[in-house]
Amino acid sequence: MVKKVEETVSFLRGYVNNDPEILLILGSGLGNFAKIVENKTEISYNEIPNFPVSTVEGHEGKLIFGKLGKTHIVIMNGRFHYYEGYSLKQVVFPIYVLNSLGSKTLIVTNAAGGINRDFKPADLMIIKDHINLLGDNPLIGQKQLCKRFIDMTNAYNSNLIKLTKNVAKQKGISIKEGVYACLSGPSYETPAEINMLSIIGADAVGMSTVPEVIAARHCSMDVLGISCITNMAAGISDNLLSHEEVMQNAKKAGKNMNILLKNVIWGLNSESL
Ligand code: HPA
Repeated sequence: MVKKVEETVSFLRGYVNNDPEILLILGSGLGNFAKIVENKTEISYNEIPNFPVSTVEGHEGKLIFGKLGKTHIVIMNGRFHYYEGYSLKQVVFPIYVLNSLGSKTLIVTNAAGGINRDFKPADLMIIKDHINLLGDNPLIGQKQLCKRFIDMTNAYNSNLIKLTKNVAKQKGISIKEGVYACLSGPSYETPAEINMLSIIGADAVGMSTVPEVIAARHCSMDVLGISCITNMAAGISDNLLSHEEVMQNAKKAGKNMNILLKNVIWGLNSESL
């Protein structure tokens, strides 16, 4: 893994002059944000050595380097999921690469089913903690890159959460906060499974994010996670679940998500001045 990371980093250094300070992962249907980035350099995943290729509709599959205000960022437009058949090591490979390239902050977004009955479709939720129900962990068998046993108490950075809440308030965006549970998918959950998730403390459910957050914490990155509640989870409403509904509501929430992301990134820059 270390050798592959080095190989990919040196390939990317051939394309980018400035180290991206922030890595932003855009979830299903949330790829629009990339449009507001300036001075863009885009590289398709299939051109990048050692990168897997994203196979999900709504995930474009490219890295976008660019600037937002004064901040150099890199966007993963499209991510890799366990349910696509990748190992978790493959899923998190880009995290190690982009951290090596200079990113010390990870902002991760996703589409999620709402379990908390106070939520409604197209709400945004700050992830305050997660429950890993993948039955796997990206750090298994990895001892070269960093230490093995990492603390996950403050996986989601409290300063970033505070900043996001402030931005939401300033911009008049209502924002929820909750615990994200990650299951493998690709089948959606049964109502009984959602009932169980509710009992164990989950507010939202999805099929991504947790592996990337574990890897990011493995590299001591500061993490902010925001879910877009694209549907109510199975059995919470009478609706049946579909990827189409997920994509539609992700688009609906996209505007607020973009305002939030843009201003959080600006806020981060002015805080670090
Ligand atoms: N379950 C799992 N993953 C999801 C959902 C859901 O209801 N909605 C969007 N991603």
